[in-house]
Parts: sequence; structure tokens; C-alpha cells
Amino acid sequence: MPGTVSSVQARAVEEVALWYHTLELPGAIVTPGWFDLRGCLDKLPWPDVRGKRCLDVGTYDGFYAFELERRGAAEVIATDIPDHEDWDWPAAARAGGGEVLASLAGPKGHGFEVARAALGSSVEKRMISAYHLTPEAVGTFDVVVCGSLMLHLRDPVRALESIRSVCRGSFLSIEEVSLPLSAALPRHPVADMRFDENRCQWWVANAAGYGRMVRIAGFELATTVRPFCVPFGAAHPVCRDPGGARSARGLATATFRRLLTGGFGVPHAALLARPRLQAPPVRL
Ligand SMILES: C[S@@+](CC[C@H](N)C(=O)[O-])C[C@H]1O[C@@H](n2cnc3c(N)ncnc32)[C@H](O)[C@@H]1O
Repeated sequence: MPGTVSSVQARAVEEVALWYHTLELPGAIVTPGWFDLRGCLDKLPWPDVRGKRCLDVGTYDGFYAFELERRGAAEVIATDIPDHEDWDWPAAARAGGGEVLASLAGPKGHGFEVARAALGSSVEKRMISAYHLTPEAVGTFDVVVCGSLMLHLRDPVRALESIRSVCRGSFLSIEEVSLPLSAALPRHPVADMRFDENRCQWWVANAAGYGRMVRIAGFELATTVRPFCVPFGAAHPVCRDPGGARSARGLATATFRRLLTGGFGVPHAALLARPRLQAPPVRL
């Protein structure tokens, strides 16, 4: 029945080892996510998704996929990798990274399945890497959404090109950006080589670099949104142990982020892009 969850579903929600997303489920259940994207929705340059075929790439617990459905999409496909081992782990972390994540988060994609059942959602989940998206594999989409994925990829432009190959309408992209580099070099596309093995993070571009990556992958930018913060959710270590955030470094970071974005969390930028129909002429 819509608007209620059974006690079995409520127990299933509790038994998810790690919720990445804060999700509002029927029965006033709010999952204790690491990130709470609810307040970001109004900041994003949403295209009209009503009656459209939509794709959410790298869905995790499905926040954007369920939002597309809520907004009236005709069909929503949510994709992710099948296993914790399938992240683009740097060589040194490859052997252990997947195991550590599995012990922390439990089976990959479990939260998504629990949320989908509780919501009575029709979103279809497909296990496929962003690198392998092709029209033959998944068809083409009026709207593609992808959030917080590029920093985790060794080759983000290749993934964006694959996304481009299945996007026939709008691409809503939401990605972490470097605030210091965005402030220092607002017009120069650069990236922070983060290379954080433990969190499987590679590059974090400044706002100009992020736009450039999307353009170089074959899109033209329609709307860009200035950086904002994706807030930490109740289960994020920063919220569970605020001591770290109160260190001198933590306070300085928080103050800088608040000054530039008006919020606290992880700095992101968002843009709406469309496939470029004609490649620009090559000039040597
Ligand atoms: C940081 S989470 C972001 C989740 C969600 N998109 C958001 O914006 O909140 C990154 C997600 O991308 C997935 N992922 C990692 N590598 C991927 C790849 N090569 N192809 C597709 N998804 C991938 C992860 O499993 C995870 O679900």
C-alpha cells in the first residue's frame, strides 16, 4: 500500500549496513545516509523529465533515480557497478579496497533494493560500468543524470564520452569541484591530482576544468550552477564525530566553504549539457 512500509521493510532498512543517501521512505522513515542531497535538489538545473526515458549513472542507493521517477519520468534505469571490487582502485589499493568496503557497507547495491521495495518504485537497476554504456547495451535516453562519479574514475573523459553516446537530450551532471582552485583560477581549467587510494579518488577539477571535461567529451553547456555544498548526512563520520571538524584545519575548511558556497559539506558544481551535434573544425 502506498505511504506505508511493512515491519519487514522497516527491519530491512535498519539492517542495511551503510546508507550512502538520506532517503525519505514511506512511514516517515528517513535513512541515515552519509550524504543528504535533499536540500540540493532546488539548486540543480533540472530539465523537464515528465514522460521521458531517463538514466541515472552510478546510482548508489538511488537518490537521483527515485527523484527522476518522482518528477514524472516515464522510465528510469539506474546503473552501477556490481561489486565493491569494480571501483577504479589505484594499483596499491586494488587488492584490499573492495574487501574493506564490503566489510563496511555490506553487499553492493543492497540499500538500493531495500529503498526500491519500500517506495514501490519501478526504477530498473542495471549493473554496468559507466565506461561500458553504449546504445546497444542500454538504448538512448532523453535525460541522463550523473552525480559524484568523475572523481572516482581514472579516466573520467572516457566515461563522459560513453554517457554522451547514450544521451539524445539533456545531461544533468553534478560533480565535486575543488573550491580553492575554482577561486584561484576561475577561468583556467585545472584539476587537483588527489590520488587518494583509500577513498578511490583520482582527480577533482575546478569549476572551469569540470565544464571543460564535459565539453571535450562532446557536449555543449546549456546551464552552469555555481558551486554549492552537498551536506553530510547523519551517518557521515563528520556528523557522528564532530571533534575532527572542530580541529583548526576542520574549522578553516568549513569557514572557507561556507564563505564561498553558503553551506557546509562537499563542494560540488552542477551543469546541464546537451550533446553537441557537430564536432568543431580541427585547427592546427
Ligand atoms: C560517490 S557515489 C555517488 C552516488 C550518487 N550518484 C550521488 O550523486 O550521490 C559513486 C557511485 O558511482 C558508482 N561507480 C563507481 N565506479 C563506477 C563506474 N565505473 N561506473 C558506474 N558507476 C560507478 C559507485 O558504486 C557509487 O554508487
